[in-house]
Amino acid sequence: MEILSTSDPDLEKAAEALAAGLLVAFPTETVYGLGADAFNTGALARVFEAKNRPSFDPLIIHIAGPDALPRIADIASLDELASRRLSVLVEKLWPGPLTLVLPKQREVPDLATSGLATVALRCPSHTAAQKLIRFSTGALAAPSANPFGFLSPTKAEHVRNQLGNRVDYIIDGGRTELGLESTVLDLGREIPVILRPGGTSREAIEELIGPVELSVGSVSAKPISPGQLISHYAPMAPLVLHKQGELALIPEATGEGRLYFSSPGDMAVPERTRVLSQSGDLTEAAANFFDMLHELDSLNLSLIRAEEAPAYGLGAAINDRLRRAASNT
Ligand code: TXA
Ligand code: MG
Repeated sequence: MEILSTSDPDLEKAAEALAAGLLVAFPTETVYGLGADAFNTGALARVFEAKNRPSFDPLIIHIAGPDALPRIADIASLDELASRRLSVLVEKLWPGPLTLVLPKQREVPDLATSGLATVALRCPSHTAAQKLIRFSTGALAAPSANPFGFLSPTKAEHVRNQLGNRVDYIIDGGRTELGLESTVLDLGREIPVILRPGGTSREAIEELIGPVELSVGSVSAKPISPGQLISHYAPMAPLVLHKQGELALIPEATGEGRLYFSSPGDMAVPERTRVLSQSGDLTEAAANFFDMLHELDSLNLSLIRAEEAPAYGLGAAINDRLRRAASNT
């Protein structure tokens, strides 16, 4: 495994590697992705293998701009309402942390979509990601660059620590700006459905296309969106989730770590305590979320107690991750 920079020559080298079927982890504005050429089935198979990801969990295809949309998604088959919604969302929210689930084009390998008739498409706003896609075939399949079910990577070192030599190159773009994955929105329903809350808030989407539904997590073996698997985004240590305010009232036990949403006042064991945002700012909290969990997890704690975020905007996405992280316990 080799670390590359975000310079043009390094991105060109990475694009060549992708063309040869190798795996390249790259930064986006949300989290690091484990990239493979979306049309290379050998490379796609290696992504599932490297992540230890079940084959029923489809990948997101990343494109550099809306011009590439018709090549991946069969947008001609959409009804009028769905196409109108698509145009507005693409115009206002792309590039950015919004993944759209649309009918797939036949050219897209079934391996990428786990045999579904739909494809998840995202246009990241990160400059290095955009360039890498343009230097490549124009479509990169990229799940988050972590082993399946574990904490998502917001720094190159998280990818190196978690995937090591299972990835060929890591492009180091520093810490990702948003820190939480994209929102996944299914546009193929009469009322669109948020399959995964994320970096684009429900409120921002509803302002543009009207009411959407939020799919509640499924515990079935075959959920609608596999990211809804109940246990996901988990640290090594068991995690217990508390309502806001509750955590500060529980005495701290030895070997226990804490993740507060906002300032808890006096902290008994500062080295085992993290605060997502002292001032309670949701953007700052989201950016710190996975990073702080990685830090706490490196302390070999017996338990992590975490506090819920407010239930709106990015807080909904933070709480979704926390609930899934807590579901092992
Ligand atoms: O921010 C992100 O979206 C990051 C960066 C790297 O772009 N990527 C990411 O990918 O989070 P991943 O594979 O960790 O999550 C993709 C989610 C999964 O929950 C998957 O089940 C869902 O998208 N998904 C993919 N294709 C789908 C489809 N056709 N229908 C429904 N859900 C789909
Ligand atoms: Mg993931």
